[in-house]
This record gives sequence, structure tokens and C-alpha cells, in this order.
Amino acid sequence: MNREIVLTGNELKGVMPLRSETLPLAHLKSLERKGFGNASVFVFLNSYKPAEIAAGYLFNLMKEKKNPVVGLATGGTFEYFYDYVSQNYKNNDCTFKNVSTFNLDEYVGIAKDNPNSYHHYIDSRFYSRIDIKRENAFMPDGMAKDLQAEADIYDKRIASKGGIDLQFLGIGTNGHIGFNEPGTSFDSATHVAKLSESTVKDNSRFFKGSKVPESALTMGMSTIFSAKKIVVIATGKQKNGILRKIQGCGVTEEVPATILKMHHDVTFLLDSEAAHGLSVE
Ligand code: F6R
Repeated sequence: MNREIVLTGNELKGVMPLRSETLPLAHLKSLERKGFGNASVFVFLNSYKPAEIAAGYLFNLMKEKKNPVVGLATGGTFEYFYDYVSQNYKNNDCTFKNVSTFNLDEYVGIAKDNPNSYHHYIDSRFYSRIDIKRENAFMPDGMAKDLQAEADIYDKRIASKGGIDLQFLGIGTNGHIGFNEPGTSFDSATHVAKLSESTVKDNSRFFKGSKVPESALTMGMSTIFSAKKIVVIATGKQKNGILRKIQGCGVTEEVPATILKMHHDVTFLLDSEAAHGLSVE
């Protein structure tokens, strides 16, 4: 029989530094770990809550660690997250002055000032609104002459900062994380990835008639897996199919996000549309 678990205030300690009235506890439910390996899975009725809870993890890290290293995702899922973090970090006594960030990916062949680039996305939605030092905000350069050299440098930079403490991820409808498409080796480091047909189709909504690039520089599967903690956000009914697939299948390179079942510290934050029909025992 299905049952829902409502978290208590105690269980939330250390997860949610935001004021308690911002979190209607009755709206926070946890799925049993069935089908998600080691990961914790929380489902919220309100589709904004996953981003707000994710922001809580970030604020906690910023308070706890002197020089935190954060892995950032872009895409539609994270638009509200960046609004929320920019508007609330100061109220939470946080500063980005000592934070380093590494974005997951960038399209190949798109200039930084192109509105469709992830450089433009993260700059306009986030960096320009927070007190981060630009020299600590890293992104792969999709215009680099030698893309593989750029990829290698990216992994070295991450390592030189001591690795990623907290990695944020969205999920593609085909199960990709970063732009690691189905079939990508779990051993891959940062590399040039060819976008799958379904990703080109999904992302064409942002390109408004102009051509979606065919490839991207992306953190590799092993780069992502090396993060100390990973927080995944998936919202909306378009993510329901892939979440059911992840729950229903084993760990396989054909569904890249299944690698997360093996990581020691992964939290999925879902809304009820994305989680619809996931089984709970
Ligand atoms: C973006 C990224 C991608 C997206 C994924 C979901 O930096 O790495 O994996 O997280 O494609 O995209 P949205 O949020 O647009 O559905």
C-alpha cells in the first residue's frame, strides 16, 4: 500500500536554514528509497519548493565551509532557483565572496554574449545579482580553439579548488545530466558531447527559431560523480517519464542519471507533477 512520510522539524534540521514559516511541512513528503539506490527523494506539492529547499542546502554550505566550491546547472528548472538565491542570500547571512562556482556545461560555437549561451544565462540571472568574485566563477568556453584542451583544463581547475562540495543538477527528459547523453561512459571526464536529437528538440524552446548547437562542452560523468554532495531538482510533468524510468531500471549508462543511485550523498527534490505515480512502499 502507498504511504507518504511527512518529515518532522527535527529531520529538517541542517537541511533548511530558512525561516520555518517558509516551509509548510505538510507539503514536504519523502519517498522511500525504493528504486533510487542510496539517494533521498523528497516530493513537494508546490513546484517552487524544490528550488527553495535546494537554496537552503547552498546557504548551509556557505555558512559551514570557508571556501565552498559549488557546481551549477542552467536550464528552465533552475531559473527560479537563481532568482530565489539572489534575493535571499543576504537575509540568510551569506556571502559569495569566498565561493567558487563551476558550471556544468556550455554550447560549442556560441559566443559568451549570445543570449542563448549558458554564459549569458548565468551572468544575467545570477552573477550580476550576487557578490561573487568573477575570477572564482568558472565555465567551460565553448568558443575555445582547442575544445579538448579546454575540457582538460576545466577538470584540473576543479581539482585545484579541492573538488566540488555541492553539485546542483537538472535532468533531461532522456536522463542526461550535464550534457552527458545516453550511452556516455560513467568514466568520462569533461569532454565535448554531441547533443542527442531529443535534447536538441527539448532545448529548441529557448532558441526561438535559431539553430540549436549540435555539441557542448560538459562536465563528464566521473566529474559529476566526484562531487561530495549532489542535489537534483526535477519539476513538471515533462520530467515524470524519466523519473519513472530511473526508478524502474538498474544503474545503466543508457540512462545517465541512474549513476546517482550509487553516489553516497544525493538528494532529489521533486514536485508532485514530476513525481506522479512513483512507487512508494
Ligand atoms: C544544464 C544542464 C542540463 C539541464 C537539463 C534539464 O546546465 O546541464 O542537464 O539541467 O537539460 O533542462 P531543463 O531544466 O531546461 O528542463
